[in-house]
Amino acid sequence: MIAAEPEISLYHLDEVDSTNSFVKRHVLELADGTLVYADVQTAGRGRMDRKWVSARGNFFGTLLMKKLPDPMLGTMVISLAALDVLKNLAPELDVWLKWPNDIYVENAKLAGVLSEAVIMPDKSRAAVVGIGVNLALSATELATIDKPAASVEKGKINPEKFASELAKSAKMYYIMGMSCSERLFALWRQRNECVGMELTLVLGGDKNVRGVVTAIAPDGALILRDSEGNERSYYCGDVSVDRQSVCAAREKRRQLPDK
Ligand code: BTN
Repeated sequence: MIAAEPEISLYHLDEVDSTNSFVKRHVLELADGTLVYADVQTAGRGRMDRKWVSARGNFFGTLLMKKLPDPMLGTMVISLAALDVLKNLAPELDVWLKWPNDIYVENAKLAGVLSEAVIMPDKSRAAVVGIGVNLALSATELATIDKPAASVEKGKINPEKFASELAKSAKMYYIMGMSCSERLFALWRQRNECVGMELTLVLGGDKNVRGVVTAIAPDGALILRDSEGNERSYYCGDVSVDRQSVCAAREKRRQLPDK
């Protein structure tokens, strides 16, 4: 039997605490493939219990995917879809995908993904994947963020346009995730551009590791070589990069015949 293609439908809210929290609260009523987006979030959440500043003009949305074989694939669906949309609508920005799923411009974060899963009554797990994209932050607002942050130029892409383009692009990756998850995984791995970069992996608490990324493993782990030449695989953590290392590694990558 051939599974029916998912339809991505938009669900707009003026204001909400968090689109991820909203989708989790209404997971049973919302149809598979609903992309909930809001003009303003009053309690936007980031990874590692951080707050996501959520002012009007930027994009805050969450896609509900009930039919993925593994909810982890949902982060790949969203980040690949958002990367395509940004490349199309803001080609002047040299966006890249940073392991595991953030979208960057040079060493500054443009978009972040928060992935959660909900156990459904039939014991399957639904992916609830939120993304925040800076579409309208001024230089003054960017300067108040504790880490380097970037924004699309204000007025260039409005959140409605971003939502409709994201829905189209996410549909293709969602279908890929349902029917050929190895291909989705391979694309995500190929588009992750950390390989060759010297970076710091923040593991939570005070634990940081510094090293050069030698590869992204077939199972998705980041492989880091430290200053003593030891290689280790990491499955989670927050990557912090500096501008020089990003530019050097990306330049090298551009020169490769088979990127
Ligand atoms: C991160 O980089 O830490 C992840 C940020 C994710 C923010 C988005 S905005 C839409 C959705 N709703 C939330 O509360 N968080 C995500």
